Parts: sequence; structure tokens; C-alpha cells
Amino acid sequence: MVILYIKNARQIDGDVNINGQSLRVDRLIASGSRMNVYVAYCEGRSYIVKQILVLERQQWPCVRHEVSVQRELEEHPNVVKILGERGFSEHASAEGIAGQHLLLLERAMYGDVEDVVRKFGRFEYKTAWKFFGQIVSVIGEMHRNGYYHGGVAPRNVFVFSKKLCKVGDFGNGNKLVPEFFNSQRITVKEIRDLLGAVDTLVSMLLGREPWSVKHHDSEEYQDFVGVEQPEDYERFVAKYPDWGSVMYMGDFWYIRKFYWENDSGAFFNIPIPVEYGKLRADELREFGQINVPKPIFDD
Ligand SMILES: Nc1ncnc2c1ncn2[C@@H]1O[C@H](COP(=O)(O)OP(=O)(O)O)[C@@H](O)[C@H]1O
Ligand SMILES: [Mg+2]
Repeated sequence: MVILYIKNARQIDGDVNINGQSLRVDRLIASGSRMNVYVAYCEGRSYIVKQILVLERQQWPCVRHEVSVQRELEEHPNVVKILGERGFSEHASAEGIAGQHLLLLERAMYGDVEDVVRKFGRFEYKTAWKFFGQIVSVIGEMHRNGYYHGGVAPRNVFVFSKKLCKVGDFGNGNKLVPEFFNSQRITVKEIRDLLGAVDTLVSMLLGREPWSVKHHDSEEYQDFVGVEQPEDYERFVAKYPDWGSVMYMGDFWYIRKFYWENDSGAFFNIPIPVEYGKLRADELREFGQINVPKPIFDD
């Protein structure tokens, strides 16, 4: 029996069966070109159903990547858990090969950090820093496993309680390129993940998004990276007083350090937060996994 109805927009309407569990789809809460996200109920409990739409065959590997990485990290307390899957069903359609993959996810009752900021304003100082540590610990774990997240941002960090947040949406990342993986202390992709965590921290502390996390392009961002000396700091907090009131001056300089660019626009000297754990490169070296070339005359 097919109890999955696909409308024109391929949205789920009614019940859906995932891993033998029948869920009542209650409402659509997010929608994009490649996905629909719903709140669904089963036996009085609420869940999230993420419907990933695939319009072309070539997109399947991305979906498989998203699912397999999230599963690989599922033991981590700060990774959104996949509770069930139904998928890789392909339907011939007018556009060619179409298909979808359904993910049953645990639901964050408060939604993502962006939702929380919009609804409640800024986070308590302690909560913001606690969440920052939780996000960063996921990032460190990912990097040591050879992946980057690629979408660390307020929209992809989910709030479960005042003490617990989890990172989700693993659909933007990929494997770290092996050459760099072995030779570089930290790659650009990894730095971007850490910057995403700091962007999220700043949003939580301020209770607003000070700059577009994708492009770092606002006047506020320009003014922020213009702060290099103590007197610049004074001028900056005079113009943006909330920065001065929601964090200590030491916090400001710590945050500022992440965004330090060299002359060619590359971020360098990025701090590695304690919660990140060991740098991938250092861990590899410690376990002797770095390919040290064999001496030529070794026999
Ligand atoms: N586990 C969850 N709990 C609560 N809300 C969620 C959850 N997963 C997704 N959402 C909501 O759906 C939105 C999109 O989900 P996401 O997994 O980030 O998809 P996309 O790949 O399209 O960005 C999120 O920003 C959030 O508002
Ligand atoms: Mg997302």
C-alpha cells in the first residue's frame, strides 16, 4: 500500500511510513529547491521528516554523503540523530529521473539558532559559549574523520534545551582532499567551519545576525575587521554598543582573532578552541599515520 502522496510540488500530504513506523505529517516548516522539512507525529511524539528531493541522477552521491556522514557521527552527543530512512526511490517523471530520500530525525523543540534568536533575542552569555563549545566539538570530530561540514551557521545548529544544541544538515560538506589532509595543519574548508561556529556564537551573543554568514559582507563586518588596535575597539563599540555590553573585551579580541586575514585575504593564525580537541594533523602524526617517505636504501 502506498501511503505517500506526492503532489505537484512533491510535498508530502498525509501519512508517511518510514522503517515500518507510520507518521502523521502535521505541517511543513521549511522548504527549498532541494528539500522540504515537516513536523510529524507518531504515538504522541513529534519528529522531523526531511524530504530530500533529487532531480538528477548525479545528485544521489550528495544525498548518500549527507546520510553516511551524519550516521558515522551519530555517537556524538551534539549531532542530530537520524532515527530512520526511507529512500532512494526513483520515479520516472517529466523532468527525467526524479527521486527523493526521506530522513526521520529527532526534533529540536526550539528549532534552529536563527529561529531562537528571532523569537527570543540574545542567548545568555553562558549558554552561547556552552553551545559554541558543543558546535566546535562536532567540527573537530568531523575533521579528524576526514570531512568538513560546509554549512556551519545559525540555521544549521539546532536547540534542544538550554543546555544542549546539536549540529545538523550535513548536506553541504564533503571529504577533505587527501593531499591537503596529510600535509596541511588546517585547510581552508576546516577554517570555514570554525568561522561558521564563531559566526553562530556572535549571533547568539548579540541576538541578531551582524553580517551575512555566507558572505561576510556587511558594513558591520568591514568595521569589525577594521579593529586592529585598542583605540579601534573603542570606536567600534561606540558605533555598535551591543558588542560592548554582551561580552568582555577579552572575548572581543578572542573572536576577532579568528577573522584575521593576511594581505592576500587568507585567514591565518586561527585559534583552536579547547573543545575542538586535537588538530587532525597532530593526531595523525601522533598515531604515526602520516605517510613518511621510506628511505630509498631501506631493505
Ligand atoms: N531536527 C530538527 N529539529 C527542528 N527543526 C529542524 C530540524 N531539522 C531541520 N529543521 C528545520 O528545517 C530547516 C531546514 O533543515 P536543514 O536540515 O537545514 O535543510 P537544508 O539542507 O535545506 O538547509 C532548518 O533550518 C530548521 O528550521
Ligand atoms: Mg540548512
